[in-house]
Amino acid sequence: MKKNIAVIRGDGIGPEIVNEALKVLDKVAKKYGHEFNYVDADMGGCAIDKYGDPLPQHELDKCLAADSVLLGAVGGPKWDGVPGNMRPEKGLLRIRAGMGVYSNNRPAKIWKQLADASPLKPEIVEKGIDFIIVRELIGGIYFGEHKTYEEGEKISEDVMKYSESEIERIGRIGFETARKRRKKLCSVEKSNVLDTSRLWKSVMHRLAAEYPDVELSDMLVDNCAMQIVKNPAQFDVIVTENMFGDILSDEASMITGSIGMIPSSSLGATSNGLYEPIHGSAPDIAGQNKANPIGTILSAAMMLRFSFDMPKEADDIENAVSKVLDMGYRTGDIMSEGMKLTGCSEMGTLIADAI
Ligand code: IPM
Ligand code: MG
Repeated sequence: MKKNIAVIRGDGIGPEIVNEALKVLDKVAKKYGHEFNYVDADMGGCAIDKYGDPLPQHELDKCLAADSVLLGAVGGPKWDGVPGNMRPEKGLLRIRAGMGVYSNNRPAKIWKQLADASPLKPEIVEKGIDFIIVRELIGGIYFGEHKTYEEGEKISEDVMKYSESEIERIGRIGFETARKRRKKLCSVEKSNVLDTSRLWKSVMHRLAAEYPDVELSDMLVDNCAMQIVKNPAQFDVIVTENMFGDILSDEASMITGSIGMIPSSSLGATSNGLYEPIHGSAPDIAGQNKANPIGTILSAAMMLRFSFDMPKEADDIENAVSKVLDMGYRTGDIMSEGMKLTGCSEMGTLIADAI
């Protein structure tokens, strides 16, 4: 099969981790006779430097024209001073909205080889950690009006807004994701305080009637944050709004050992998806061959599975990651005693070689 992939390397460790994912994709292409064409697109700080804009329309257009988009990471201290609407992160929000990818899927799964890296007690880890956070990605407070003004002092506002239809479409993804798994869906909100959450909860319960095979539960977001560390085995699929999903997915990644291991997929109405690790650009270790490329490599696997309908190829990548971890290779973030400390580039080569 022939596929065009828009590649956004971004800032910080972005270029390094993306290189490793491309190494792995090239190996898959060779093994299965596919042709993956890469089209570079600029976004984030590097696009600000080059064009004065974190995502110029011509770069977004490259992504819209592709079969899918692979993204490293954006942002860094160099652009901390720029105004809010021109920050590198704004590029990320614009590409998500521009592609219409409202559904962000973030798996929290512990690799058996990395059980020691979890900060949770072994008796909690032993019960299993294997859940997915389905995060609404193009609505809520991230996309409401933001403003700062003077009224004797500075006042800022960020509007959190959700419509029924926005909630319904992500709710359906939650139910359908649960249907393919252990059939348990936990809807997370703050309905004791927020109107948007009360609407969220009512839409989830209306949808539940259409998915009688899925068990729906509700949880307040503060309680959920607690339950994720107390008893993560209770979760199968969590569905939640944009900002809660941002926070809970970082927490969920941490209990699996390292945020560097977690991929994500973002999809909307078409098969053109956005695939990115959930971590940031880690400017402190950029350019030192220290980053963990596995989150990005697993994001490439998700691209093959969800956008290109290549499940065998995706399995191959995931199995290769497992094999390399079995062999004891570890980047710094997942290093433990007796293991072999491995650079970003070597890790990518090892995984590609294991396919
Ligand atoms: C994420 C990140 C982004 C978000 C930032 C970089 C804008 O934290 O993908 O989780 O908040 O969505
Ligand atoms: Mg985040």
